[in-house]
Amino acid sequence: MRTPIVAGNWKMNKTVEEARLLVFDMSRKLREIEGVDKVLCPPFPALLAVSALLQGTDIGMGAQNLYWEEKGAFTGEVAPNMVAEFCKYVIIGHSERRAYFGETDETVNKKVRAALAHDLTPIMCVGETEDEYESNRTGEVVRRQISLGLTEVDPAKAASLIVAYEPIWAIGTGKASSGENANAVLADYIRPALADLFGADTAQAIRIQYGGSVNGSNADEFFSQPEIDGALVGGASLKKDDFVAIVQAASKS
Ligand code: PGA
Repeated sequence: MRTPIVAGNWKMNKTVEEARLLVFDMSRKLREIEGVDKVLCPPFPALLAVSALLQGTDIGMGAQNLYWEEKGAFTGEVAPNMVAEFCKYVIIGHSERRAYFGETDETVNKKVRAALAHDLTPIMCVGETEDEYESNRTGEVVRRQISLGLTEVDPAKAASLIVAYEPIWAIGTGKASSGENANAVLADYIRPALADLFGADTAQAIRIQYGGSVNGSNADEFFSQPEIDGALVGGASLKKDDFVAIVQAASKS
């Protein structure tokens, strides 16, 4: 049995003060919910303040990115050990980073391996564009993203990985995939691609989230699917009631 995991990707939202207020607002309710791993991913400047508020709770924290080098002349970047000072998780290869910041399967792979080397749990995002979806290329795209993104990952560490399947056409659009469609992508392409890399047992242990317009009302549809082990949530993670409802839905799945 895989424990579901729900992560809130706050993206580029919330100042430190706003982040504190949001965590104050939602953490009591979140702490009451059992049987699901809960993760908040604020922007870098808010990590210190949020980690202080989450101390002693069962709510984990993640960063939204990292750089693979250890240190040095890389202006504007954040090293894995700096992330690991505060975080247990790190989102890697989100489609916005691939689309706007030039990330490729190769750089995603470097980041995943750097994260694992620092005992961070990567949440690696994969997913097809609308064009690829409409031309029935979803399988080809996610298989490539998995096999290149996870090349040379230590099989001993692979079971701790998290993969987020996020069809790009469903992100921030209010047009979520259907539970059945998302489940089929996981069952037909993503888990088999993981099995090719790491063997069937490890592939069964890896948690795969769905992401893309998940909210309090549609979360059940995804979590009732056998392959879907939680969600990576954008917009709705900034709203207490929605995010709490999503985590509750995952705890019942
Ligand atoms: P959304 O974003 O929930 O706002 O669609 C999901 C994501 O980008 O991770």
